[in-house]
Order: sequence, then C-alpha cells, then structure tokens
Amino acid sequence: MNIAVFVSGNGTNLQAIIDAVKRRYLKCTIALVVSSNKNAYALTRARKAGIEALVLSPDGFKTREAYDKRVMRELARCNIKLVVLAGFMRLLSPYFVRRYKNRIVNIHPALLPSFKGTHGILDAFRYGVKITGVTVHFVDDELDHGPIIAQEAVRIRGDDTFKTVEARIHKVEHKLYPRVIRSLIEKK
Ligand code: GRF
Repeated sequence: MNIAVFVSGNGTNLQAIIDAVKRRYLKCTIALVVSSNKNAYALTRARKAGIEALVLSPDGFKTREAYDKRVMRELARCNIKLVVLAGFMRLLSPYFVRRYKNRIVNIHPALLPSFKGTHGILDAFRYGVKITGVTVHFVDDELDHGPIIAQEAVRIRGDDTFKTVEARIHKVEHKLYPRVIRSLIEKK
C-alpha cells in the first residue's frame, strides 16, 4: 500500500513513520511527502530516506481547493491510498476531504476536543490540566476535527515544565501514530 505524509515542520512524526517502515513494522511504502513549507526540516528527513517530496507553497494558489486539486493530482499519480497528516499546517478543503473520506488521518498533541489548534501542548499545560495526551483522528474540513481513532493520556505532574510535558507527548505520538497507521493498513 502506498501512503503519503503531509508535513510543514520538523517532521519527527514523519521520522517515526519512516523508521517503522524500515523495520517492517509498517508494511507500506511512503510514496510521497508533501510539504507546504520549503524550509521544513521534514524535507531533509524525506531526502535522506530517498522519498519523493513535493513542496507546494500556498502562495501560488488562488483558493484552498486549487491547492488541494494540485496535491490530489500527485496523490493519484503515486496511487496513494492513505494520507497521513503529520504537522501539516493547512486546513483541507471539503472537496479533498470528500474524495478521500476515511483515508486521511491527523495527529494532535492534546485530547480532542480540548485544546485544538497549533499550540495544543502549551494551551493544555497553561490551563493546568492534570491529564492531557495525544489524539489520532480521521480528518474532516474543520480544524482538528473528525471521528477519533485513538487517544492516549499523558499525566502532568507537579514538577513538570512545558518542556518535559512536550517531550512526553512527542514520545507518545511517535509510538501511537505508527500503531494506528498499522491497524488502518491491516484493515485496508
Ligand atoms: C505534532 O505535535 C503533531 O501532533 C502536530 O504537529 C506536531 C508536528 O511535529 N499536529 P513534527 O513535525 O512531526 O515533529
């Protein structure tokens, strides 16, 4: 099965997926990485792993749908069956979501529906919650929204700082995401 991973930043989740493919925990091919940011370190990770990467800055597109249609052409060319969002900083258009229904997943570093948005870890930490976590969900056209596939809790202790919580959240992400992707691949 061919999958695509969409990124915009550091790409540690991409790396976890690359590593899981390498050790055959994931029986799939990452046939394409799509980045909305030409400076994303995730692109270096893709290059090192020999994965084709497409950099598409939103600037050249009039509408969200135009951008997505361009992306969808590449997905069709690469015969992509599953789209994995891993820190992709763009909302997908209803057009895209409809065509790839139940074939797009996202990971969010908080327990949805709490603390949506770019700063989920920090927002939860500042709020003072005692339990936060990680959510993997199917994607619809709302931000950090859609049927939840898996969640894992992360407890916040009295001596935690933002940095220690952040590190624990990422550690959970890097295990949970490959696990969910594996189960989706098995279910085809
Ligand atoms: C992760 O925390 C993910 O949950 C969120 O964006 C972050 C991406 O990190 N959606 P990375 O680029 O995978 O390191």
